[in-house]
Amino acid sequence: MERKIIKTNDGSVTIHLPEWNEQYHSKHGAVQEARHVFLKMGLHFYLENFQTEEISILEIGFGTGLNAFLTFLESERLSKKIRYTGVEAYPVSSEEVLQLNYPEASQATNKEAIFQKIHTVPWETISQISEFFSLEKQQKKFDEIEDITTFDIIYFDAFGARVQPELWTEDIFSIMYRALKINGVLVTYAAKGSVRRAMIATGFQVEKLPGPPGKREMLRAVKKQAQTS
Ligand SMILES: C[S@@+](CC[C@H](N)C(=O)[O-])C[C@H]1O[C@@H](n2cnc3c(N)ncnc32)[C@H](O)[C@@H]1O
Repeated sequence: MERKIIKTNDGSVTIHLPEWNEQYHSKHGAVQEARHVFLKMGLHFYLENFQTEEISILEIGFGTGLNAFLTFLESERLSKKIRYTGVEAYPVSSEEVLQLNYPEASQATNKEAIFQKIHTVPWETISQISEFFSLEKQQKKFDEIEDITTFDIIYFDAFGARVQPELWTEDIFSIMYRALKINGVLVTYAAKGSVRRAMIATGFQVEKLPGPPGKREMLRAVKKQAQTS
């Protein structure tokens, strides 16, 4: 499938897939969207409500590594230990990585080497990226995830239900539910009624929240009790 690097409205780039008319991030601003949906509504919400020495995060759709990089920056800023796992079936190429301007677009040009390290460390291995941030990239499909009560937070960042409806179903959300600890939180940029209903049917408590600039709403789902089936 053809892939093009394009600039979004906050100056950060993203990957555009013309055939699907779909992007890896919001055209209104990739960095802006990631900070709002995953950091503010996910990581910061979790830290404000629950105490843990170390936070474990699962990212569904590692893609460009933007969410991993911004989360690394937060781990430094907060001196908080984060264990980050990114699942991705189709990694971006090294040529594409060179065109991603995320350190500059997130005012962290001094962390360019860390952004490169996030991409060059081997897959299927836990790598210590910094004192506070470890990363394991796993190359597999989302329906192959088998973790049980492992993660505090899931960043659910798959392509939209318009192009990949099979990734927004009860089957996939059950896998996410199983992978979360009690009080674990899943955040996503999506706000569709069908997505919300699939999350509720899985057992999640779901809240609609204000979305990032350019998007009215997003969803946050919390696992309050153990899976029954
Ligand atoms: C919206 S993009 C990812 C955005 C990513 N979080 C980022 O910041 O770049 C969705 C990602 O899911 C990956 N993907 C799509 N279908 C998948 C599947 N069935 N299993 C695993 N990864 C998949 C794509 O290759 C793509 O990288």
